[in-house]
Amino acid sequence: MWTRWALILVCNLLAASQTSRGAPEGFPTSGNGLWYDAPGVYWGRDFLPVGNGFLAAMTPGGTSFEATQLNLESLWSGGPFQNLSYHGGNKETSDREATKQAMASIQDTIFSTGTATGTYVCSRSYAGAGYLLTSTDLTGEVSDYARWLDLDQAVARTLWTQGDTITNRTTFCSHPAKACVQHTASSASQTFTFAFSVAPEPELPSPNVTCLDDATLQVRGYAGAPGMLYEILFYASSASGAVSCAPAAPFNTSVDTANATLTVSSAADVTLLWVGDTEYSMDAGDAAHGFSFRGADPHEALAARLAALQTTAFDGLLETHVADANATLHTFALDLGQTPQLDVTTAALMQAYQTDDGNPYIEWLLFNFGRYLLWGSARGTLPANLQGKWGAGYSNAWGADANINIQMNLWSAEMTGLDVSQSMFDYMEKTWVPRGTQTAQNLYNIDEGWVTHNEMNIFGHTGMKLGDPQWANYPEANAWMMLHVWDHFDYTNDVSWWQAQGYPLLKSVAQFHLHRLVQDRYFNDSSLVTAPCNSPEQKAVTLGCAHAQQLVWQLFNAVDKGFEASGDTDAEFLDAIRTARDQMDKGIHIGSWGQLQEWKIDMDDPADVHRHLSHLIGLYPGYALASYDEEKRGSDVAYTKAHAAYTKAQVLDAAAVSLAHRGNGTGPDGDAGWEKVWRAAAWAQLGDADTFYHILTYAIATNFAENLFSVYNPGDADPIFQIDANLGHPAAVLNALIQAPDVATIKAPDVATYDDPLVTTLPHPLVITLLPALPAQWPSGSITGARVRGGMTVDMEWSGGELKSATITVGENIVPRDVQVVVGGEVVLEFTTAPGMVQSI
Ligand SMILES: *[C@@H]1O[C@H](CO)[C@@H](O)[C@H](O)[C@H]1NC(C)=O
Ligand SMILES: *[C@@H]1O[C@H](CO)[C@@H](O)[C@H](O)[C@H]1NC(C)=O
Ligand SMILES: *[C@@H]1O[C@H](CO)[C@@H](O)[C@H](O)[C@H]1NC(C)=O
Ligand SMILES: *[C@@H]1O[C@H](CO)[C@@H](O)[C@H](O)[C@H]1NC(C)=O
Ligand SMILES: *[C@@H]1O[C@H](CO)[C@@H](O)[C@H](O)[C@H]1NC(C)=O
Ligand SMILES: *[C@@H]1O[C@H](CO)[C@@H](O)[C@H](O)[C@H]1NC(C)=O
Ligand SMILES: *[C@@H]1O[C@H](CO)[C@@H](O)[C@H](O)[C@H]1NC(C)=O
Ligand SMILES: *[C@@H]1O[C@H](CO)[C@@H](O)[C@H](O)[C@H]1NC(C)=O
Repeated sequence: MWTRWALILVCNLLAASQTSRGAPEGFPTSGNGLWYDAPGVYWGRDFLPVGNGFLAAMTPGGTSFEATQLNLESLWSGGPFQNLSYHGGNKETSDREATKQAMASIQDTIFSTGTATGTYVCSRSYAGAGYLLTSTDLTGEVSDYARWLDLDQAVARTLWTQGDTITNRTTFCSHPAKACVQHTASSASQTFTFAFSVAPEPELPSPNVTCLDDATLQVRGYAGAPGMLYEILFYASSASGAVSCAPAAPFNTSVDTANATLTVSSAADVTLLWVGDTEYSMDAGDAAHGFSFRGADPHEALAARLAALQTTAFDGLLETHVADANATLHTFALDLGQTPQLDVTTAALMQAYQTDDGNPYIEWLLFNFGRYLLWGSARGTLPANLQGKWGAGYSNAWGADANINIQMNLWSAEMTGLDVSQSMFDYMEKTWVPRGTQTAQNLYNIDEGWVTHNEMNIFGHTGMKLGDPQWANYPEANAWMMLHVWDHFDYTNDVSWWQAQGYPLLKSVAQFHLHRLVQDRYFNDSSLVTAPCNSPEQKAVTLGCAHAQQLVWQLFNAVDKGFEASGDTDAEFLDAIRTARDQMDKGIHIGSWGQLQEWKIDMDDPADVHRHLSHLIGLYPGYALASYDEEKRGSDVAYTKAHAAYTKAQVLDAAAVSLAHRGNGTGPDGDAGWEKVWRAAAWAQLGDADTFYHILTYAIATNFAENLFSVYNPGDADPIFQIDANLGHPAAVLNALIQAPDVATIKAPDVATYDDPLVTTLPHPLVITLLPALPAQWPSGSITGARVRGGMTVDMEWSGGELKSATITVGENIVPRDVQVVVGGEVVLEFTTAPGMVQSI
């Protein structure tokens, strides 16, 4: 013991004697972490996040007093827990006939005039779970202070000296343990007190805080009155001190509950473990359970989990956690040629960061941080929401869920090898499908399939919210989400998952959109269009919105591509999908000012700098534009009747015109990071490295706070955190380095079952482009472990702005497909994949 402390003391004295203090001892020498020289003040720009998907916490890095903000993934206000009549925002079955007539009348108006207006036919939030207050009786001036987030180990640390005492605190949430840990080690004995408080989150009703036993604090409360039940258990242990739990005497029994506290006296070390959960159950979100979403009281399971963990010492918990990070987070590595800057704090680096000049170290750090956040928030039973799993308020911005934002969360998952999407697939299957089936029936008069709209919650809020259609009318949300479902299969070829969950999701969404497509009675071009439709958050209610048409076309292709593996024998369905796919308007029209039209009617305003790039969905993250193929689509029925056969260059030029006119993601409503990051990814897709880097660095300079959180209102002292740009950043960076967008067909369909001579059935090769938009600021670097659809892994290295080597390794479980590798605009390699094949450049 003594030697260890003596050593730390010496190190710290040395550190203190240095004139300029750099990153603390123990900070990753690679620079893979965030560090600060003062405790955090504001949650949104200073606190540091840890999480395991089930639980999350934000630490300010306090010293003798630390207030750690806590989250439980399913703690939401609203839903059936607050209102027994809650019905997911749906209309009643009895409204069905009236709704059907209203919809028909809107369609008539649209087909005679092109657009429609009017109010549409036609809650709740993720909530913080209070604060853990850790205090000690240490007094005196604090010196040699540092706090940091180690992204190698996925732990937050605080180190400081007070008087002669050096104290070291480590906080992390372990996925294998399903628990969070706060460990404090000190060079001198002190008395620790642990309390729980909702005072900084006043809307959350005060829970009961009691002693479960001598070492365990039990918090039980409701997320409202009435509201969902939750429980958190804190367990303290110490090798050196004595642990006790004391129920506090209520100050005034008629108004106060007695808040118990844990005390650890005469201790040089203490480990606080916490577990928590709610009574929410995704398995009870269907008609059989009355859509109650109510499961068991979490107490028994939590007490059992805690009992099982009590036998493991802190070192063991940490070791398991680090091994988990190694196995699940660090399977991918990026090098942008960055030089770690350990002499100044991360806050100072962020404050100095400039658009265009950039800083590869920060761009690299944000890449790793984005993956860390997804890894730390999506591995629970629920997917990462708009806050990931980090939300301080009783109510969080946009209820913690919106449209583009949730879709963006998973952009980097498959390509960077993060196996975190299962929670999203379960969420769709268990919360959207049951309620969304009712929404399809009662709102759209469609008896097959399901639908949902934007701004949802964990209680199956699939109905269209009331109000202006520009915010509400987004029934393509399900089609967008199916990109992730198809991609997961396309990357993994996991046939048993596809048959059990992926394909049923895809099929039911395709059924809905199949029924929703109608003959275009405006242009009379015998194409199928959606009507009414909105381009998300744009005003016009019209027909054939490019966003909807491109997404549904991709959806139908995915059904076609995945049908054989699905085991489905419904040939009639496949036939209907293929016929509709070929007859539908593809959402690709070049308009009067050379733009890629946002709507089938050419009414785009060149001055429209709207935040969304809805009509460019097929550029990124989709492929309808990016993989446009004039030859293979030229004979398609509706296509030749309705449009001139554009060349790929014309389509991409039109996309570039639209993208340029959309501006840099500044306003008109807000100045968010996600819109810039999306633009950056889209410019990379077009191979424009300069504009890519300009917008990427503009996003970082504008929308990322000192703690690297992506924030909505950066000018505010305590800004609103939105995780979307954090999770979109790695995808945008990667899109400048490797691209392999999806394609319409993978293999020629069996002519016996599919012999429409008008439709070309040649398979499209998968085109892998290496360094498609490498900015000058990243002249050298490398990637290890990037995954590409079709079961391939790419490792590559570049220097002097040029590719030096690349190795493509084909996995064992794949469907053979044709691949072209493009470097510098030239096809440098062509092959057909086979299990275990390795190709090198
Ligand atoms: C409960 O939900 C029903 C159905 O949405 C709604 O009509 C009612 O106003 C809600 N009650 C409260 C108190 O919010
Ligand atoms: C902090 O504590 C951890 C474990 O408690 C220990 O491994 C580490 O060396 C300490 N670091 C410093 C800088 O004191
Ligand atoms: C217990 O904590 C709550 C807030 O979390 C507070 O309102 C209440 O007064 C506290 N009771 C006591 C006895 O301190
Ligand atoms: C808190 O304690 C009160 C009084 O014993 C009890 O009525 C209430 O049900 C408890 N709340 C929870 C969430 O257990
Ligand atoms: C306790 O609180 C009640 C309600 O506010 C109040 O009427 C009473 O005077 C308080 N008692 C004491 C001893 O403060
Ligand atoms: C994690 O990986 C790093 C680098 O490969 C290695 O140094 C470390 O020992 C590993 N840690 C664990 C716990 O597996
Ligand atoms: C489309 O057909 C309808 C009815 O057949 C007709 O009223 C309308 O003028 C036609 N529109 C065009 C652009 O030809
Ligand atoms: C972003 O666009 C706005 C509005 O067009 C313009 O004023 C501003 O200079 C641009 N900034 C950058 C960094 O591109």
